[in-house]
Amino acid sequence: MDKRVGQRTIRACCTGALAAIVAGCSFEQSALHPAGRDAEELASLTWFMFGAAVVVWAIVMGATIYAVLGKKRPRSEKFADRLILIGGVAFPTIGLAILLVFGLALLPSWTSAEAPDLRVNVRAEQYWWRLGYELPDGTVVETANELHLPNDSTIEFVLSSTDVIHSFWIPALGGKMDAIPGRTNVLRLTPTKPGTYRGVCAEFCGPSHAFMAFPVVVHEADSFPGWLSAQQVPAVAGNPTFAGAGCGACHSVRGVSETGSVGPDLTHFGSRKTIGAGTLPNTRDNLLAWLTAPAHIKPGVGMPSYASLPEADRAEIADYLMGLQ
Ligand code: CUA
Repeated sequence: MDKRVGQRTIRACCTGALAAIVAGCSFEQSALHPAGRDAEELASLTWFMFGAAVVVWAIVMGATIYAVLGKKRPRSEKFADRLILIGGVAFPTIGLAILLVFGLALLPSWTSAEAPDLRVNVRAEQYWWRLGYELPDGTVVETANELHLPNDSTIEFVLSSTDVIHSFWIPALGGKMDAIPGRTNVLRLTPTKPGTYRGVCAEFCGPSHAFMAFPVVVHEADSFPGWLSAQQVPAVAGNPTFAGAGCGACHSVRGVSETGSVGPDLTHFGSRKTIGAGTLPNTRDNLLAWLTAPAHIKPGVGMPSYASLPEADRAEIADYLMGLQ
């Protein structure tokens, strides 16, 4: 290959790789840009471990370079024994013990006598999240696929699953916890920075595992009650085309039809940021594509295709759903 062509190719590859890395830097889903108490501790543990690894790497590389390039002088057997004892036994034992103690100190406590500020029931299903906000009077406000949380509050997530093992993870807020069929796991998180983050399913659960995400909106603590009370309000009106197509058999729209419980609650669908649990931005065009061929967008999804409906009916259903604010 011509030398200049080779250099140009290398330069193009480097620029492309850098662009790809920078494009991924939205920090919405980054454990290294913590926005929660647990995530801050995990990030400090990560950097501590990384620093320790760099020190160990430098020592090993230094020893290797010395062994290869250093002056060859005869050494006594005693020196060799000591080198093995110190470098091969004492140093790794002490080093790993320090790292272990640091890691164990950051383990979250499993139980807490203190009541959380808010409890959210999270039921993982292939491939979406059923969410229930517990109110002080014991009633539960159901929603789906988009978490809203108050800042600087302890939130207890009560995790369960209806089908296979999933894992609930909001990297910016803290560690992950499995949602396992037949049992209930509890995870507490404390957001410390208002903003929009991204949660994901972190356990392979089927063909659309990668499309099982959810936006997480952390509100200032005093603006959160406004969001929650807006979610409590039932839908203003029904729609004959939505009802006629049988959507209500699977989806509830509170105040209009409340029997459907197979799919996500749609009472305030229009106010959500995404369609299909973090799969597409919630726009009218994306919703029309979703109604026409959901399995094309999200393989294995429970939602059937409504391609057989007249186009005008699909458009009417899309307008109705976008209006459910
Ligand atoms: Cu649910 Cu992966």
